[in-house]
Amino acid sequence: MKLDLDFVRAQFPAFAEPSLQGQAFFENAGGSYTCAPVIARLTRFYRERKVQPYAPYEASRLGGAEMDEARARLAAMLGVETEEVSFGPSTSQNTYVLAQAFAQWLKPGDAIIVTNQDHEANGGPWRRLADRGVEVREWKLDPETGRLPIERLKALLDDKVKLVCFPHCSNIVAEINPVAEIAALAHAAGAYVCVDGVSYAPHGLPNVGKLGADIYLFSAYKTYGPHQGIMVIRRALGEKLPNQGHYFNADALYKRFTPAGPDHAQIAASAGMADYADALYAHHHGGEAAPTARAEAVHDLMRAHEIALVQALLDYLGAKNSVRLLGPRDAAARAPTVAMALREPGETVAAKLAPLGIMAGGGSFYGVRCLEAQGVDPARGALRVSFVHYTSPEEVQKLIRALDQVL
Ligand SMILES: Cc1ncc(COP(=O)(O)O)c(C=O)c1O
Repeated sequence: MKLDLDFVRAQFPAFAEPSLQGQAFFENAGGSYTCAPVIARLTRFYRERKVQPYAPYEASRLGGAEMDEARARLAAMLGVETEEVSFGPSTSQNTYVLAQAFAQWLKPGDAIIVTNQDHEANGGPWRRLADRGVEVREWKLDPETGRLPIERLKALLDDKVKLVCFPHCSNIVAEINPVAEIAALAHAAGAYVCVDGVSYAPHGLPNVGKLGADIYLFSAYKTYGPHQGIMVIRRALGEKLPNQGHYFNADALYKRFTPAGPDHAQIAASAGMADYADALYAHHHGGEAAPTARAEAVHDLMRAHEIALVQALLDYLGAKNSVRLLGPRDAAARAPTVAMALREPGETVAAKLAPLGIMAGGGSFYGVRCLEAQGVDPARGALRVSFVHYTSPEEVQKLIRALDQVL
């Protein structure tokens, strides 16, 4: 079964937007286009339901029900309980709150592991636990390949380690880390795992239950939704960690790590992410299937399309002497987020691509440690071209032609 690209692109108003015509979008890892069901729900919420939710009058009841629907449907796709899914303003704020909880829960002498492959969102808040007497160990990437070697993790694990934080895939290296294997190793050593799925989730929501992550984080605004951070916190850990919300809400697992009042409209609109995935499933497969099976089928459709497209780009870049491609050359091993170190600063090259109808980004992408560890000066930064399943083969060809002019 092949992804029907016309159907896919018809679900994104951006592709019909006159001001965006002629521009190929390659900064998806920064934030994706929003799918039509999310925009429709957001608009409806603001027009019809923009009142305090969960009160007995109709507009309020509908608003609350839609927020519940979003959590329930996303949880079902992710293979976890509804109560295990919660929202916060962004993944960076979510890790900040979680780190406060761990700061209260960990004891001096306990250790945690962080990587230097992560975006700072899944590094900085954890590293600051050192100020509270927690030992912070760094799982270092290989400077040549950008890979996180499993052997290095094994050497860091012992019974002092209580938490291992790592990315499902980095927003720079893009190699897909073996989450289930890492989680199993960490669990065997008595540690929990916190997985930053921000760069992976846009390529198909994973079955978090199967992966074995205790915490799995992603950002809805990079996954065709509104500007929210989504957290899966498995019950066994979430009930153990100190509550960070109002004391009288402590019994509601999904409220324990969202200290502020949530953004009602955006949470409700996140149900549109499930509408979109279900529409893809119905169009390509049809029939009844469990939510996790539907999500898996959609994931596989997206990945097959992306892998076919990104290989051409990787082959082109791999043959260029002036380019240092970061991360693997094998499309199946990575997300289609392709960062490269060049002679010129990444931002300079991105600016040259803009008039050629290529929307791309340059810089450090908040992965300063990740670039430094690979010997790339973060001030010079990298050029990053990132795409998703709605990207067309013609757009990738246009990108290659444009790169040929500027590199
Ligand atoms: C891999 C990764 N993790 C975390 C984040 C932070 O997400 P947010 O912007 O929701 O705080 C980003 C954002 O670019 C990212 O790419």
